[in-house]
Amino acid sequence: MKISVVGTGYVGLVSGTCFAETGVNVACVDIDEKKIENLKNGIIPIYEPGLEDIYKKNVTKGRLQFTTSLKDSIEDAAAVFIAVGTPPDEDGSADLKYVLSVAREIGKYIDHYMVVVTKSTVPVGTAAKVKDAIQGELQKRGADIPFDVASNPEFLKEGSAVEDFLKPDRIVIGTESQNAQKVMSRLYKPFLLNGHPILFMDITSSEMTKYAANSMLATKISFINEIANLCEIVGADVDAVRKGIGSDSRIGNKFIYPGTGYGGSCFPKDVQALIRTADENNYSLNILKAVEAVNYRQKSVLFNKINKHFNGDLKGKKFAMWGLAFKPKTDDMREAPSLVIIDKLLEAGATVVAYDPVAMNECKRIIGDKITYAKDEYDAAIDADALILVTEWPEFRLPNFRVLGKLLKNNVIFDGRNIYDPEEMAEKSYTYYAIGRKIQTT
Ligand code: UDX
Repeated sequence: MKISVVGTGYVGLVSGTCFAETGVNVACVDIDEKKIENLKNGIIPIYEPGLEDIYKKNVTKGRLQFTTSLKDSIEDAAAVFIAVGTPPDEDGSADLKYVLSVAREIGKYIDHYMVVVTKSTVPVGTAAKVKDAIQGELQKRGADIPFDVASNPEFLKEGSAVEDFLKPDRIVIGTESQNAQKVMSRLYKPFLLNGHPILFMDITSSEMTKYAANSMLATKISFINEIANLCEIVGADVDAVRKGIGSDSRIGNKFIYPGTGYGGSCFPKDVQALIRTADENNYSLNILKAVEAVNYRQKSVLFNKINKHFNGDLKGKKFAMWGLAFKPKTDDMREAPSLVIIDKLLEAGATVVAYDPVAMNECKRIIGDKITYAKDEYDAAIDADALILVTEWPEFRLPNFRVLGKLLKNNVIFDGRNIYDPEEMAEKSYTYYAIGRKIQTT
């Protein structure tokens, strides 16, 4: 079996590589010549645990290829997956220009039955637009070649994308065609040996499922962040509350960890896009508007604590920042809370020395040398007025507090991810600030 995957971003590259792992021949396509050249030469554009190993293995076996020619890639292919970007428009709706340009290209070159699958997160109605775009090109050619469209949203998380793809909780496929169902079932069967389901549904519901899933998760996060803020005011501890509510199986204990707001390439963009879709249909998604507003406010919560601790005088103060990426195990800085905190600190006249195990190059690419980059977490702490923890990388969980205390000018920690124990911090004579925790010691 042969497939083509168009777009070598997170979704495309991970999907293509993981499909190849099952023995399928995969051609990954991108218009970015440099990226394809790099991929041919063993250079992967993203950091994702486990990706390099299976990429190397499948390239060596000749099952994973890279090309800039969509035409070549779809030759004999049973399916073509569209996994190109859908960046937000100025008004927040998803921009479909890349998706539709790929669809037109497919229409120009398709010469046998294929399933055309939208894998990018695309608004309701996109598969129908893809179908029209392909049909338009076929008409221009005067050709009558059968094809089906299908929607197959991707639920992978950055940092565990390979694992998520290889062992999915479920596969959602929207299609109205039996033929397409057969092709998709064959492709996905090897990933469902754990008994998890493949859910076939109509295209619109499938497109909606992706946005509803991400919006639900973003809602959980904004909800717990609000509860955390209220806990602080009334003297409760959100960590206890989180456990208390999370042990109710109807609520569940996942995605209710408070912090400095959600970031990344999906939640902010998808919440916004769903709000837009509703607006366009004259419906106001009030919950998601609140989710967005709460997240915006949450990104300032840690800075406000810092500012208050130093009585509004941050001029000339030096801060150590542990973690820059929007979450651990990725170098992705998109919508990262660290960027908001850095901006506010610099604006207030402070300086920042940061350390992140993998995201420093990416951060440098975005904000340059506005901050200093340290060689490790302890190096960042030297002579700092306080330590700010933004990303909960595993290596930050058990630092040597004695060594850290000697390096820091003041033993003050602002923990944006609640990874330390307030009582232990008190015992070790640290002034500890966290999100929604009861104990703040001096
Ligand atoms: C998310 C979805 O989980 C995934 O299914 C979808 O395909 C893409 O979007 P991702 O953006 O990679 O994946 O990261 P995720 O692990 O979901 O975290 C998103 C953000 O939420 C991070 O900023 C994280 O720190 C934050 N978060 C997550 C919390 O603040 N609290 C939590 O309890 C969980």
